[in-house]
Amino acid sequence: MTKKVLVFASGNGSNFEAIVKYFYNKGLTCIDGKTISDAAPQVIFELLCDKKEAYVLKRAENLGIRCFYVKFDTLVDFLTQQKGEHDLFVLAGFMRILPEKILKTIAPVPVINIHPSLLPKFKGKDAIERAFREGVKKTGVTVHYAAKNVDSGKIIEQREVQTAGLSLDGLEARIHSIEHSMYPEIIEKLLFKRRVLVFGGGARENAIAAKIKKSPYLDKLFLAGANDGFKNLGENIEFIDYNDLLKKALTNGVDMLVVGPENPLCEGIADIFNKEGINVIGVNKYWAQLEGSKIFAKKFMQKHGIKTADYKVVTAESELLAALKDFKKRNNIVPPVIKADGLALGKGVSVPDAFDEAESIAKSFLEGKFGKASSRIILEERLSGVEVSIMSLWDGDTLVSFPPASDYKRLLDDNRGENTGGMGAYAPSKISIKQKKQVNKYLKVLQSALQSEKADFTGVLYSGLMLTENGVYVLEYNVRFGDPEIQALLELLDDTKGADLLDIFIKMGEKRLNEVDLKFKRTGAYCVTLASSGYPENPEKGAQISGINSALKQECKVYFAGVKNDCLCQAAENCTSALASCNLVTNSGRVLSLVKSGKNARDIVYRAAETIKYKGKIFRKDIGL
Ligand code: GRF
Repeated sequence: MTKKVLVFASGNGSNFEAIVKYFYNKGLTCIDGKTISDAAPQVIFELLCDKKEAYVLKRAENLGIRCFYVKFDTLVDFLTQQKGEHDLFVLAGFMRILPEKILKTIAPVPVINIHPSLLPKFKGKDAIERAFREGVKKTGVTVHYAAKNVDSGKIIEQREVQTAGLSLDGLEARIHSIEHSMYPEIIEKLLFKRRVLVFGGGARENAIAAKIKKSPYLDKLFLAGANDGFKNLGENIEFIDYNDLLKKALTNGVDMLVVGPENPLCEGIADIFNKEGINVIGVNKYWAQLEGSKIFAKKFMQKHGIKTADYKVVTAESELLAALKDFKKRNNIVPPVIKADGLALGKGVSVPDAFDEAESIAKSFLEGKFGKASSRIILEERLSGVEVSIMSLWDGDTLVSFPPASDYKRLLDDNRGENTGGMGAYAPSKISIKQKKQVNKYLKVLQSALQSEKADFTGVLYSGLMLTENGVYVLEYNVRFGDPEIQALLELLDDTKGADLLDIFIKMGEKRLNEVDLKFKRTGAYCVTLASSGYPENPEKGAQISGINSALKQECKVYFAGVKNDCLCQAAENCTSALASCNLVTNSGRVLSLVKSGKNARDIVYRAAETIKYKGKIFRKDIGL
């Protein structure tokens, strides 16, 4: 696989040299005419310069890189001759703005530029000096696609530099050193894009797939188990079992698997794919027990001094009465929460109001209400306080977390009705500074615990927390993103600053989460779930859905869960088709998620919730109040 890159430079050329050397050190290009192995992917660099006296020409000569000296007014002719030769055009200190005519000649091959400021601030010349003189607290580096105006175009990545304590020379040195590591890496990711498989068929996976789809580093998106609402975001892979899926993933050159739901993780899908060298965003089977076994999770917490509710394990009905009695003695009047040890589709937790109710629920669990999953149960002290969900990413070394999110588990307003998979969420949670500090302290303890365990997975860890008067208590761990919390949280990721989900996942795979600075919009995001009447026990199905296009027009995101579509066009985020002609029908309890961040976000989401129509529509009206 040979790629060819044309670098445009007409100045000092330090970026040009850094790029060539980066690829040379990785064995991906040769300098001085030395050959590299036929097996390795190869990148051929060429230089285009419009200034005879530019130092970059000297550098190119020393590196043995082919140069083209082209006068600016003949550039269009030159590029027309070269049409089809290059995979990427890289501006690295080219002192000219490329007019539309040139950009059109080059298209559709991308042209990228690097600029030493946090664009859109300090466009144009002497950006570092101007930022310094203005006394800004932070500046940085931006890599972006080149558009016809100076230093404009879609941002690919930005990195910040704090100016405190730096002289102008110091700031320049800092910025250039960032440029020299950042630019080559981005070029590599643009040349060798990823083939990503997203596993799962709910609104959560729709949101993840839609985000990944936008990444500049995506080659092709594959989906396994997608519902009809978002299946045309990518190519769908049908499969019989995980081994079959692996085989098909390998045939399609998939290099990353992102797993949405917990079941496949608990069944070991990550282990199966990892063995074949595919990067997996999702825990291995061993660590999936943090969600798959409440007892495993409790032991982990106790071992590492993580506060959690007092509990008692019950493995047989014969132990139940004594356990309840003992519980009563220790925790006085409040009956315990009953939890199935294993996975029970989010329904294995019951919060009884009286001891006799607790006893009968516990009995039904032990008698097999959730099959093997409830053959062991725990009786857990009921805590009170503020509940928040924290999604963290873990790469084997570093834990990086999203802001706290709040979800709504009960079916009805004012937290009445049955427990559900989740009826809505908002983020960030409205918690005090003190509580934020406590959460951060907890996250540090969690990171140390995982480090001391040498927890060898790359994936998501969700902490269900109760913020009590006595500090942070862990209610539960999940090993995947929460649905619907993640729909709201992903909306807060600031892609205008280049916070790219796929790039974050790539860095996780390289154990470089410590370099990731998750950038979030400073605003709130809301997610409201539309469900079907009868949910969760016995949801109605088959009702025709209308109004999706109007919701999308209000710039409200629509992520699909329980839908079926007989028509081939799709209604996910990027759909351009007229949905009126679609035969989209409800197919399960949670039908779709409506998501929005920023100004009036809550109102917009609720307007969309009214706009979308189907028989039996239900949703909570109090999300984010
Ligand atoms: C860099 O600061 C880059 O951001 C800007 O021009 C400068 C080029 O420096 N576009 P060099 O020629 O690579 O040393």
